[in-house]
Amino acid sequence: MINIGSYEERVKNFDWSIAEKELDYTQGDVINIGWYCSDRICQQGKGDKLALIWENAMGVEKRYTFDEVRRASNTIGAHLREIGVEAEDRVCLFMDKIPELYLGFVGILKTGAIAQPLFSAFGDESLHVRLDNAKTKVIMTQRKHVGKVRKILEKMPYLEHIIIVDHDGKKPLKERESVFSLNDREWIDDFDIHPTKAESPSVLHYTSGTTGQPKGVKHVHYSLISQYLTTKWVLDLQEDDIYWCTADPGWVTGTSYGIIGPWSLGITQCVLDKGFSAENWYSFIEKNRVSMWYSAPTAIRSLMKAGDEVIKKYDMSCLRHMASVGEPLNSEAVIWAEKVFNMPFYDTYWQTETGSMMICNYPGMKVKPGSMGKPFPGITGTVVDIETFEEINEPGKVGLIAFKPDWPAMMRTYWDNEETYQSKFVKGWYLPGDRSSIDKEGYFWFTGRDDDVINTGGHLVSPFEVESALLEHEAVAESAVVSKPDDVNMEVVKAFITLKPGFEANADLELKIMNFIRKKLSPLAMPQDVEYVEKLPKTRSGKIMRRLLKAQEWGEEIGDTSTLEDD
Ligand code: PRX
Repeated sequence: MINIGSYEERVKNFDWSIAEKELDYTQGDVINIGWYCSDRICQQGKGDKLALIWENAMGVEKRYTFDEVRRASNTIGAHLREIGVEAEDRVCLFMDKIPELYLGFVGILKTGAIAQPLFSAFGDESLHVRLDNAKTKVIMTQRKHVGKVRKILEKMPYLEHIIIVDHDGKKPLKERESVFSLNDREWIDDFDIHPTKAESPSVLHYTSGTTGQPKGVKHVHYSLISQYLTTKWVLDLQEDDIYWCTADPGWVTGTSYGIIGPWSLGITQCVLDKGFSAENWYSFIEKNRVSMWYSAPTAIRSLMKAGDEVIKKYDMSCLRHMASVGEPLNSEAVIWAEKVFNMPFYDTYWQTETGSMMICNYPGMKVKPGSMGKPFPGITGTVVDIETFEEINEPGKVGLIAFKPDWPAMMRTYWDNEETYQSKFVKGWYLPGDRSSIDKEGYFWFTGRDDDVINTGGHLVSPFEVESALLEHEAVAESAVVSKPDDVNMEVVKAFITLKPGFEANADLELKIMNFIRKKLSPLAMPQDVEYVEKLPKTRSGKIMRRLLKAQEWGEEIGDTSTLEDD
């Protein structure tokens, strides 16, 4: 039996109270995601059920039952309280995919504080702008990443505590640092969970836009309602499933569907904290008997590239359902999956801002390879004209994706940036900034973003952030950053650069510049290609026209150049 039953019937009879009832939640009640992900599952008699199966690159394995998740998160929560964390304080998680990241997330939410997960590959500058925007009080991190925090410490008087979760006592601690290890603590059974309500803030995820600094997307505890039901109906998780979400909780997929969704349903999930290779992944699936797999197009394309022979070495018969998110899932990848796994990847479309899945393919509904599917029941989704914002009723015509902003997991604002938040709404629609068409059967077909943000391997990179960082390099006079096509990552970052006098345009400098960005921002933001130019195309008012450079990279028509500055 598939959880959703019939998509059409669900659409007809939909109400979010379906999820509220299943979660025993009544409007006005206390609702705390941390409690729902651990204590409630234990109260249902599933305390001994495995919640987390974890493995790292050295082959070390750890397992946690729901009761252990409950007690470990209590212990972390109690420690945070002891050091002065209060409701709505921001607590950052800056770690690899180690168990403390998952347990810490639950623990932070239990205290009523706001969890701010940040991708551990971020460099010091990426880290700083995000901590600075949130005025983060505490950061939980690992020995290997603490150096990046130390580098920017002086600029962050608001950061009171740096908690190192894996300190071995060998190197001395520095200012504001302390050690907290779950191994050395007696785990706490009873913890006074903060009585958060529906609108209490829960998670702050950072996302990149075309202009300005990254935006902190504020979510609330009520988001659980959407995350729970979409996990149940789209990912179709069932009691005996072993679930694997390959996303890192530094990004929204890794929290909404890598912690909250599965654990609020009491499902066992696996985490692999190890680099990607087809062999690593297939053997992990085989070994843990993964039955439901949620991944991303770049990974799927990399698996395709590794070839079909390698799959034959492993027993993949455990898989019963697979889904994808983050970037366009090309039809070839869906068709390939049907050939080698006997089932397609079911594409899902959503964003950091939406907090939960918006447009999806559902078990039991016909999959059209290359289409993102249809809006989740209860979601009013359409496309509107790019200029007038009027709804388009013509099948196949491309417009801006638009949603009525009325589902539980919708962001509540951008942190300290209400103006940008408001700019996302036009004529009562929330505009996620993507373009699509809808066919006559109601299926959405993604055509591209409506801005210059680069989606590389499913991760958004702001050209503005990379350009700003490039300007800090001693050799760079000006830069323009655009996407360029890539077989596996769909698009990668390319930088056009003019040099300051005295610097020579050569391959050595190119490598230095790439490395500079990798360290400062992240490996994702690092340009894969640096092109030296004499001059960048600009408008008469002096604005760099990225559009022209991008069109050139993609072999597209250049379009209107009437505003281009004269030679
Ligand atoms: O452009 C869309 C693309 O990724 C953006 C959201 O990125 P982020 O906030 O980082 O969240 C990613 C994971 C939820 C969207 O605005 N995107 C996401 N899913 C798809 C997609 N593009 C095409 N097809 C998808 N299924």
